[in-house]
Amino acid sequence: MIFLPFSPCGRRWREAPDEGYLSTKTQLAERYPSPDTNALPRVRATLSHKGRGKEHEMTSPDLPAELKAALDGKLRGFSRSDAAGRAASISKTYRGGGNSGAIRSEADALAYALARMPATYAAVIASLNALVEIRPDFAPNSLLDIGAGPGTATWAATEAFPSLRDFTLLDANDALRALALDLVSDSFRLRDLSYERGEARAALAKADAADLVMASYMIGEISDTEQRALAELMWAKTHDTLLVVEPGTPAGYARIIALREHLIALGAHVAAPCPHDGRCPLQTPDWCHFTQRLQRSRAHKQVKGAELPFEDEKFAYVALTRELVETRPSRVLAQPAVTKVEIAAKLCTPEGLVLTKVPRRAKADYAAARRWRWGDAVN
Ligand SMILES: C[S@@+](CC[C@H](N)C(=O)[O-])C[C@H]1O[C@@H](n2cnc3c(N)ncnc32)[C@H](O)[C@@H]1O
Repeated sequence: MIFLPFSPCGRRWREAPDEGYLSTKTQLAERYPSPDTNALPRVRATLSHKGRGKEHEMTSPDLPAELKAALDGKLRGFSRSDAAGRAASISKTYRGGGNSGAIRSEADALAYALARMPATYAAVIASLNALVEIRPDFAPNSLLDIGAGPGTATWAATEAFPSLRDFTLLDANDALRALALDLVSDSFRLRDLSYERGEARAALAKADAADLVMASYMIGEISDTEQRALAELMWAKTHDTLLVVEPGTPAGYARIIALREHLIALGAHVAAPCPHDGRCPLQTPDWCHFTQRLQRSRAHKQVKGAELPFEDEKFAYVALTRELVETRPSRVLAQPAVTKVEIAAKLCTPEGLVLTKVPRRAKADYAAARRWRWGDAVN
């Protein structure tokens, strides 16, 4: 069993400073004044931690060995400095508001995969771990991966769900599609997957519905109007669960929230991260997002020109189900602030946003709350 804790991240985002990581009591007090001065509900300090990794196995956020080997094999004929140059130029395009249209050649696709696949994979795994924690019996047979690119979400779902047998990927980008097919060619489970080339809505309209439908880091590449239409179509093609993952920026969160509200109106229920189907209680400039730490391989460091052996990927996600999930635990929305006196944690609960304070003198509760991490489900 491998479980890596969610951890806070010091990276700055272009769109706004990170409000999600509330590290000090002062920050918490400023943003969420105590109930004496504000009508926020409180929960008693009786929350128990939901046995992280005890009830079921969590999937590691690091790329599976088979995928790492396939990427390393592809890299053999390529210059790492060329890959680094291409990755930097693709990332500059993204920062400038562009999209993966900048990925045109085999070398571009490989550079993109080396630089970004470990992080998007880790974010999808973290979202799937949250889903599996809430629905341990979910055993999908079929998967549809929309805007699949190099196949990141498909690899992640394959790791998380041994039950998956039938894989359909869709994407408009030839170079990423070719790379994805190359990467799975030696994989026993994935080598027979079907990868349709085409614009997402047109290709999806022709696809069979699947138990699990996923769109990872994709909807941000299409217009708001297209996002609405694609959301409806993805939902129509979902037998059981739809998972959408986006960058953990305010803009990524806004896209998740728009899709969430739209599909709840069409009958969807939230399985994670929210413990309710109501409106998101967070108010601007706050936004719901999480962070996942992942290890960087040597090639990953070289392509990114990075020194640190790890990085923290911020992401936002929503898992929507056809059936209402029976138990929806509260969610820890920022890394709890631990002091000698108490632990203060920001929670999204079925009743709304709550700042809970667990005093040290409540020994058992304090010990349980010490294990809470940003992104955890707690009850
Ligand atoms: C940032 S990449 C993410 C790839 C992959 N899902 C991942 O998580 O690594 C976005 C992907 O969405 C695809 N995409 C964007 N708009 C699309 C559209 N309208 N139809 C089909 N694919 C699209 C791009 O070609 C690209 O592969």
